Amino acid sequence: MSLKFSYSLLAPFYDLAIARASAAVRAQNLQHLPAEGALDVLINGIGTGLDLPFLPPSHRYIGLDLTAAMLSRARARTDALRVSLVQGDSQALPFADHSFDHAVLHLILAVVPDPAACLQETARTLRPGGSVLILDKFLRSGENAWLRRALSPLAGKIATRLDVVFEEVLAQVPQLELVSDEPVLARGWFRAIRLIKH
Ligand SMILES: C[S@@+](CC[C@H](N)C(=O)[O-])C[C@H]1O[C@@H](n2cnc3c(N)ncnc32)[C@H](O)[C@@H]1O
Repeated sequence: MSLKFSYSLLAPFYDLAIARASAAVRAQNLQHLPAEGALDVLINGIGTGLDLPFLPPSHRYIGLDLTAAMLSRARARTDALRVSLVQGDSQALPFADHSFDHAVLHLILAVVPDPAACLQETARTLRPGGSVLILDKFLRSGENAWLRRALSPLAGKIATRLDVVFEEVLAQVPQLELVSDEPVLARGWFRAIRLIKH
């Protein structure tokens, strides 16, 4: 089963499962975007657009996702913002180098098969000084988590990997530097992470 197929099936139920539980941490993480200005912001793996209600209105947004069924739900949330929606792959972004001032990666790095490619592509398309706002579930280096590791190959085919170690991903993207890393949900399994591009 491909992720495009499974997220096409999940799209009608996604908000019911995720919106309420994630609203507060989304809002909190997105406060790191500048409130003023007309900046270019990538929403990488935009899904049904659950981030959109929390975004400052003055910026220009591009929301990318692999799945048309998710993007069509996001479209219904774009009213108050300047948003372009693009169907594409986060691991091979269809944008030129240095296109964006900031990038939001909420629940996408642990979803894609190759999180390092996703983060490398994000870094490539960011301007120097730009930031990356991440919200996702990660294992710590050396964490046992045998059940999550055992379930990850199957879960990764349907919806999300469970075995991604953030530090191993970041080590493959030397242009990005860690600014902050906070536990936010599920006893620190979900983390809000901020990076900056040199
Ligand atoms: C867990 S949802 C997260 C959606 C949204 N960012 C959020 O926070 O609610 C994962 C999203 O990633 C998308 N996706 C999966 N693989 C992708 C890929 N290779 N490139 C871009 N989007 C992808 C899915 O279609 C889905 O919309």
